[in-house]
Amino acid sequence: PDSIRVSEFAEKIKRPATEILKKLLLMGVMVTINQEISFEVAEKIAEQYNILLEKETKQEREEELINDFEDKEEDLRPRPPVVTVMGHVDHGKTSLLDAIRHSRVVETEAGGITQHIGAYTVDINDKKIVFLDTPGHEAFTAMRARGAQVTDIAVLVVAADDGVMPQTIEAINHAKAANVPIIVAINKIDKSGVNPDRVKQELTEYGLIPEDWGGDTICVPVSAKTKQGIDTLLEMILLVAEMQELKANPNRPAKGTIIEAKLDKGRGPVATVIVQKGTLKVGDSIIAGTAYGKVRALIDDKGKKVKSAGPSMPVEILGLSEVPNAGDILYVVSDEKTARQISEIRKEKEKQKYFASSSKITLQDLYSQI
Ligand code: GTP
Ligand code: MG
Repeated sequence: PDSIRVSEFAEKIKRPATEILKKLLLMGVMVTINQEISFEVAEKIAEQYNILLEKETKQEREEELINDFEDKEEDLRPRPPVVTVMGHVDHGKTSLLDAIRHSRVVETEAGGITQHIGAYTVDINDKKIVFLDTPGHEAFTAMRARGAQVTDIAVLVVAADDGVMPQTIEAINHAKAANVPIIVAINKIDKSGVNPDRVKQELTEYGLIPEDWGGDTICVPVSAKTKQGIDTLLEMILLVAEMQELKANPNRPAKGTIIEAKLDKGRGPVATVIVQKGTLKVGDSIIAGTAYGKVRALIDDKGKKVKSAGPSMPVEILGLSEVPNAGDILYVVSDEKTARQISEIRKEKEKQKYFASSSKITLQDLYSQI
């Protein structure tokens, strides 16, 4: 920034603002504590205190405002695994998720559960697993490209009657690149004449060697139709999660990742976020991409309004100024003004990028004409 508010400047060089105002007056600069002075003027004042002033880049300012600190080991607590179901078209991803939800959720809770958001939590005894319904490969890639990794475990669904297909291979590559452990669910084993061993054989060609063949890839034969093997699959997910020792500090301002967002006619921008650390609360000031605001309401995967959401929990957020993108990182900041400031810095950066690229094109155009 090329100018700075007097109060902020005083804070930065740790001098009383009144003293700085006096010095400014002596220089012939008449401002109030809430007005801004140019970098050059600030530099001259700082000189008088033997302080060398350096311009802060937008990036630095942004990071300072966000203040995402490292957590101490002793503050970390276990958190549920976040699982993404991947696989080729029609291999049964949605059916499998439905089967899991019905066998685990409906029998323990009265009434049918309506899925309101693209992620949901399944309770297994005293443990939880969070399943992501949305990410097809594109969403998964988009999130990874933004440096957001929400997935702890990938469940790769392969239909026993179809075997390894192009999108199966893509999914394997994505999970491997993201360093996410893969659990294979060999689906549709209720169909007559299918042979799970054929799928295992095909998987070995892509570096996934089944455990019973001496490798370390867990393969579970399942049927989304008859629910055979579903309990084993859930057990395996919990087992792998346990080995990962997934932890997060629940007692800090929240950080999470937007997994989907839309503009709702009645409610305005609505975003689904997976909280990754901290606890997100109603009333928190938030920033995600250039969208900012105050959390007006939080809605859980059962469509219920909640006051807060801790690590690994998916929730819908109401109260953002605009619709963020999937993969945007959400941060809780100290107040709404700070959130708006970050949004402005980011919008400015976008504009600069735009001008930079458009002027480049003009130059190239110019040269090509000569
Ligand atoms: P996309 O979302 O289009 O990629 O498909 P998907 O992977 O979600 O597959 P989906 O769950 O929609 O299932 C595709 C078809 O396979 C449907 O007709 C299901 O009824 C059927 N199907 C899924 N699982 C099983 C199973 O375990 N056994 C049998 N027999 N059919 C299944
Ligand atoms: Mg589907």
